[in-house]
Amino acid sequence: MNNTWLIDSPLDMHLHLRQGHMLDVVAPWSAKCFAGAVIMPNLVPPVTSVEMVVKYREEILRSGNDDRFTPYMTLFFRDYSEAELIAARKHIIGIKLYPDGVTTNSESGITDWRAYDHVLSIMEELSIPLLVHGETHGFVMDREREFMDTYQDMAQRHPRLKIIMEHITTREAVALLDRHVNLFATVTLHHLLLTLDDMAGGKLDPHLFCKPILKYPHDREALQNAVLSGHSKIMFGSDSAPHPIHQKECCGCAAGVFSAPTALPVLADFFDRRGKPELLQKFVSDHARKIYGINPPAKRVSLTRQSWRVPDKIGEVVPYMAGKEIPWTARPE
Ligand code: NCD
Ligand code: ZN
Ligand code: ZN
Repeated sequence: MNNTWLIDSPLDMHLHLRQGHMLDVVAPWSAKCFAGAVIMPNLVPPVTSVEMVVKYREEILRSGNDDRFTPYMTLFFRDYSEAELIAARKHIIGIKLYPDGVTTNSESGITDWRAYDHVLSIMEELSIPLLVHGETHGFVMDREREFMDTYQDMAQRHPRLKIIMEHITTREAVALLDRHVNLFATVTLHHLLLTLDDMAGGKLDPHLFCKPILKYPHDREALQNAVLSGHSKIMFGSDSAPHPIHQKECCGCAAGVFSAPTALPVLADFFDRRGKPELLQKFVSDHARKIYGINPPAKRVSLTRQSWRVPDKIGEVVPYMAGKEIPWTARPE
């Protein structure tokens, strides 16, 4: 039994770091053990210009305080001109599209993507990937499934546009991946491990309430099978999304699981228990590097079979697995 695993440049391909004090509290947890992360633009107001991207990137570097951590920045999708996108291209890894109102801070998202097809054409031309929160406004358990037609339309209309289906949660999304060469996906830790029962089957756990909502056992099984097959179009994206405790333990609970501090150790445990240690490197780094064509800073992180207790709170946020023992510890070399 190998008690230490070394991972080269782990990447978190979907991360919320917020702003201000919250950014200061959460950024170091990602910067310490990851070599890079794709930073979501759903701030208040959303990140919709190169100036905002550049400023936000500087704030992240300052708060993260680790020179071996690269924030891969994104713009919030809107009606961008070609000139704007040409100017933005070297500052961003992609543009994130939110349907209006489907998740945290997505009020200025779009109602009908077809009205913005010309933006997708420019992105396709400039090789700027499109990242999508793929949910309709339908019944909460069906929203992702109902969005599959949209993914399919986008993928067919823009065959050279790289489309990342963010935080996929259903077996239908897993199946769609193999039908279009230009579709890729991120998978979170919580959707890989949990179902709706974990959040709402017994006493309600607001800290597991997130969008897309946790799904059925058969969906989790499809995600696990895909990840454990080493599917090269799937990469890890934590979707770590911190909210202060008073916005979680209340009526009108905000959606989001703060998993950045526990992600790597819990993933190590997941692959260890299934006898697939070699897949961790691929899932948390290699696939993302290939899909996005990025070369993150060299940063080696060790995972050691040594248990630790997750803090009850980090600042004003309750992390995923708060108060629990985790059998693996992550440390930068
Ligand atoms: C995210 C957040 O809080 O910003 N929440 C979530 O439940 N996942 C937004 C998102 O990724 O949809
Ligand atoms: Zn989302
Ligand atoms: Zn997210």
